[in-house]
Amino acid sequence: MSTPEPTVIFDTVYGSTEHYARTFAQHLGVAPVVLSDAPPSIDQIPGTGPLVVFSPNYASQISGAKWLRDKDLDSRPTALVVVGMSVSSWARSRDGAAKVLGDNADKVTRFYLPGRLNHSQLSRIHRGALWSLNQMLRRKSNRNENEEQIVHEYGRDIDRVDDAELGPVEQWVHRHRA
Ligand SMILES: Cc1cc2nc3c(=O)[nH]c(=O)nc-3n(C[C@H](O)[C@H](O)[C@H](O)COP(=O)(O)O)c2cc1C
Repeated sequence: MSTPEPTVIFDTVYGSTEHYARTFAQHLGVAPVVLSDAPPSIDQIPGTGPLVVFSPNYASQISGAKWLRDKDLDSRPTALVVVGMSVSSWARSRDGAAKVLGDNADKVTRFYLPGRLNHSQLSRIHRGALWSLNQMLRRKSNRNENEEQIVHEYGRDIDRVDDAELGPVEQWVHRHRA
């Protein structure tokens, strides 16, 4: 009997989440699906194995989590991979996607991976949002580790994408594929 085929879905703005999703899908031998092209319900999605959704985090807007929030996930083991620039340990302990997933939070395994932020390539809107955040944080006296990093890295091109970070997600798929 063949093992159930996993499905990889991703959203991205500047390509770092897409890079992770394509690399991951290639390792599994499947073609990734862009979130905006994904069918509205889980039973219309190709594959019957584990479902892995890759999503960037934009100011706690996690499109993949929003998409999963109202889905019926009972038929497929589901994981959400959130890509962002927060300190990874901080992102993992804070687990911001849980809130966005609502009642589906207990059905979705979450992973947090480091991303890429090239300030020189940002849209005007994104540059403006980060300028305001940086101004606010510079005035703050008790910055936490994550806020300190945002201030320190403001205005620079930073790439923390690391394919080795996909290891635990691949292990999760293999555990849920049998
Ligand atoms: C306006 C803006 C807001 C962001 N907000 C967050 C955030 O709240 N948490 C986080 O971890 N990363 C945040 N990021 C960083 C992105 O999640 C990161 O650059 C990610 O790798 C982008 O994915 P993409 O290249 O697939 O679009 C933000 C980036 C921008 C430009």
